[in-house]
Amino acid sequence: MTTKKRARSSDLLKFLSRYFSHPLRVGAVAPSSRYLARAMMEGIDFDSTRLIVEFGPGTGIFTDEIIARMHQECMLVTIEIDPHYAEYLRGKYHERSNVVVVEDSAGNLEPILDRYNLSDREVGAIVSGLPTPAIPKPDLTRMISSIRRNTETGAKFRMFTYAPSVMIPYYDWLPIRTLSKTWRNIPPAYVLGIN
Ligand SMILES: C[S@@+](CC[C@H](N)C(=O)[O-])C[C@H]1O[C@@H](n2cnc3c(N)ncnc32)[C@H](O)[C@@H]1O
Repeated sequence: MTTKKRARSSDLLKFLSRYFSHPLRVGAVAPSSRYLARAMMEGIDFDSTRLIVEFGPGTGIFTDEIIARMHQECMLVTIEIDPHYAEYLRGKYHERSNVVVVEDSAGNLEPILDRYNLSDREVGAIVSGLPTPAIPKPDLTRMISSIRRNTETGAKFRMFTYAPSVMIPYYDWLPIRTLSKTWRNIPPAYVLGIN
């Protein structure tokens, strides 16, 4: 087995073990495909962005895609609530000095950026793999406020869903729209975004 294939099957095993422990919080029956990961990156200006935030990385499918594209002076702050996933990701990215894996809720973005002295950097993109309906209301409200604040100053926001008509109402006071559909994902998924 090649190193890449071994890494992918280890991601899959980790994903499934957490899915069986917390199905609602994981919110998907399989990790997203590479095709969806690529679609999530569309429109992000990786040349100019110096701070990217990821919510709900899981085993790091989107994280891998961000790291492959981001500028060497760009920081990636990836926020994962599940301690097992967070530990897995810290191991996976321990050699990357510009990747910070934070075990916390996406609802705490502002204090997290403060903690890492990154509050002065402009957030260029927020990439979310979160299962929105499973997020407790206070966290969801704070998270949506952060998305609004950052997108108002130009940050791109990308998330995915299997059912846009169910998801969009959660973000109804934001100018969110459907950007694309990826068939090669289980199940097929839509990318939603702002900017
Ligand atoms: C559907 S999985 C997505 C994983 C990966 N991005 C993918 O697309 O395959 C959702 C992830 O969000 C995490 N999560 C759920 N609620 C969260 C929260 N409030 N803050 C941060 N991460 C959260 C889960 O633990 C899980 O890793």
